[in-house]
Amino acid sequence: MLAKIASFVVLLLIHVASSSADGGQFVYQGFAAANLTLDGLAAVTPGGLLALTNATFQTKAHAFHPLPIHFLNASSSAAPGARSFSTCFVFAIVSAYDRLSDHGLAFVVTPTTNFSAAKAGQYLGLLGAINGTASDRVLAVELDTIMNPELRDMNSNHVGVDVNRMISEQAQPAGYYDDAGGGAWRGLQLNSRKPMQVWVDYDGQAGQLNVTLAPVRVPKPKKPLLSVPVDLSTFMADTMYVGFSSATGVIVTRHYVLGWSFSLDGPAPPLDFSKLPALPRLGPKPRSKVLDVLLPLATALLVAAVLAAFFFMVWRRRRYAEVREDWEDAFGPHRFSYKDLFHATSGFKERNLLGIGGFGRVYKGVLPASSLEIAVKRVSHDSRQGVREFVAEVVSIGRLRHRNLVQLLGYCRRQGELLLVYDFMENGSLDKYLHDPQMPTLSWHERYKIIKGVAASLLYLHEDWEQVVIHRDIKASNVLLDHEMNGRVGDFGLARLYDHGTDPRTTHVVGTMGYLAPELVRTGKATPLTDVFSFGVFLLEVACGRRPIDRDDHNSRVVLVDRVIEHHRNGSILDAVDPRLVGKYETKEAALVLKLGLMCAHPLPNLRPTMRRVVQYLDSDQPVPDPSPSYMSYSMMSMMQNDGFDSYVMSSKPSMTSIGVSSVSVLSEGR
Ligand SMILES: *[C@@H]1O[C@H](CO)[C@@H](O)[C@H](O)[C@H]1NC(C)=O
Ligand SMILES: *[C@@H]1O[C@H](CO)[C@@H](O)[C@H](O)[C@H]1NC(C)=O
Ligand SMILES: *[C@@H]1O[C@H](CO)[C@@H](O)[C@H](O)[C@H]1NC(C)=O
Ligand SMILES: *[C@@H]1O[C@H](CO)[C@@H](O)[C@H](O)[C@H]1NC(C)=O
Ligand SMILES: *[C@@H]1O[C@H](CO)[C@@H](O)[C@H](O)[C@H]1NC(C)=O
Ligand SMILES: *[C@@H]1O[C@H](CO)[C@@H](O)[C@H](O)[C@H]1NC(C)=O
Repeated sequence: MLAKIASFVVLLLIHVASSSADGGQFVYQGFAAANLTLDGLAAVTPGGLLALTNATFQTKAHAFHPLPIHFLNASSSAAPGARSFSTCFVFAIVSAYDRLSDHGLAFVVTPTTNFSAAKAGQYLGLLGAINGTASDRVLAVELDTIMNPELRDMNSNHVGVDVNRMISEQAQPAGYYDDAGGGAWRGLQLNSRKPMQVWVDYDGQAGQLNVTLAPVRVPKPKKPLLSVPVDLSTFMADTMYVGFSSATGVIVTRHYVLGWSFSLDGPAPPLDFSKLPALPRLGPKPRSKVLDVLLPLATALLVAAVLAAFFFMVWRRRRYAEVREDWEDAFGPHRFSYKDLFHATSGFKERNLLGIGGFGRVYKGVLPASSLEIAVKRVSHDSRQGVREFVAEVVSIGRLRHRNLVQLLGYCRRQGELLLVYDFMENGSLDKYLHDPQMPTLSWHERYKIIKGVAASLLYLHEDWEQVVIHRDIKASNVLLDHEMNGRVGDFGLARLYDHGTDPRTTHVVGTMGYLAPELVRTGKATPLTDVFSFGVFLLEVACGRRPIDRDDHNSRVVLVDRVIEHHRNGSILDAVDPRLVGKYETKEAALVLKLGLMCAHPLPNLRPTMRRVVQYLDSDQPVPDPSPSYMSYSMMSMMQNDGFDSYVMSSKPSMTSIGVSSVSVLSEGR
């Protein structure tokens, strides 16, 4: 029992500090332990907030200090006057919708706590009509958040003093005179969901009621918001209750009072903000700080990882992307994967570049699985049609086996690109040895061996294989040298790629300037004999160490065939032999090669020997018949000019040419 009383006293000391015997002073730092008189929707939350309203539609709420206050000075000798009083409280109006709220709340001084006759809505649960009755005697300080024309409201955010009627004696928009800012006016939004403090001070002697508003923690402004002259001496009953009143309309709004103090005859005790209960948070419970930091971080990392994986896959797909169609299954073993070729050539690095030819770049590589050395030629092609025929041809060519052919191992297809895989030829191409002064000179013996090898491979292509294969681009740069300095013909059939898929109405001639047979330029039709022509030029090139079309000392163009014919006409054909050999050559063989060269490069195709005949000449040392006198009067140069060559025989360097019927275009090297 004693303990109970003691604890009650302690509670009383903490929460209800009563200094005067009549209960003229109290402080509520939160209402958890308070014994308020509540009605309607009013409730005290477990956290200690006085919640005047909740969501219910058109209902009232009241909360009063349980004990009545003696407002009249009984000891007054003259007519009993109303005592001075002072109160302050912290409130918050929390709307479900930002800046949009229902009716406000009011601080009330009232003779009774029975408000059953009062109306909700704009009446704030204060009165039953605009004018109160004589028995109502309600003094209110309203914090109004709805503009009601009937009640002559100035706006939807004002503070007013009501003396027993709903129309305010005086009202002001919510705000305060900021002492820190030199007394500047600062507007406040009552329903801003932020706690604010209100002071109501009545001076009984002066009959003046002051109302002051400020954001919480801002010291009481010196200048009140409202200063209303009002004589309460006849208005006040002896005992009156103080409290709060509120009412709901249609919008979900909560009116909270966080703390409250009251005093008669002196300033209300200040509130300790640190002890006030916290407002409930709007919306869902906040995540912890850790989650606040970690969750976005983890999400960002996950997204980044997924993106990275995605881009890596796309990159990988792109990097190794190939074009593969059903029909290619038949060529299975000849198909290389791009990935293998990519890795074999260290990603087609510059340092693996062997050279740039007419059809594309050639890279050296080593197949990881077999450590086989390969050369990979990247040929760009735009034509979609014709690829199938070409691949078929490549594959069938891949079945060609001859010791003087560069072995084609297989292919790979990518968008707009074809990769051809060949045996790697250690000693590179023949034309370097013939025309590059930096390179060692080939001996006659080596040259003769190369010539015989190339002739043998051409015979194989033309006659000894199951079908006739026309090389179309016989020239020194297409003859490669293996480790034994054997000549091996490469790039066969490649010219066909440019044949396929082009407009059939125009005839494209593909080959290299200086090696093209005259009838090929005219008709565009490649035959074994056009190969023989190129081979003839090649023979002269090897024997003379000169390019098919060259410049003389006076910088005028000289066609090699014409030069050799000239020497022959002068009866000294051997003068045409490469001076770099310094006379060290087999006279008989050299004469044979030169005459055979002229014979093969005969302008009339039917006067050229077949490759079989050529090989017989080379093998049997049979003397080659002298060129006919008519041939001797030909000038290859004038012939070429007649054929319209002149416009593009400008370059002394051999280059790929593509000659259309109406247009002449030069495929630049590196294409
Ligand atoms: C609370 O107030 C009521 C009257 O409103 C009274 O009956 C009751 O005893 C009070 N309780 C406490 C604990 O003060
Ligand atoms: C509103 O308050 C009343 C009275 O305390 C209660 O019965 C009702 O459930 C509350 N409504 C809501 C929505 O909280
Ligand atoms: C009551 O009135 C008398 C005379 O008017 C005054 O002296 C006294 O201070 C008043 N008491 C209070 C508590 O206001
Ligand atoms: C409250 O006042 C009404 C009249 O306005 C009356 O009918 C009712 O009985 C009163 N209630 C209490 C509890 O006094
Ligand atoms: C309310 O009282 C005022 C005088 O204080 C009077 O002018 C007005 O007509 C009254 N209004 C109503 C609706 O009774
Ligand atoms: C009310 O405010 C006025 C200034 O506007 C001031 O002179 C007066 O003392 C104040 N009264 C109270 C009771 O605070």
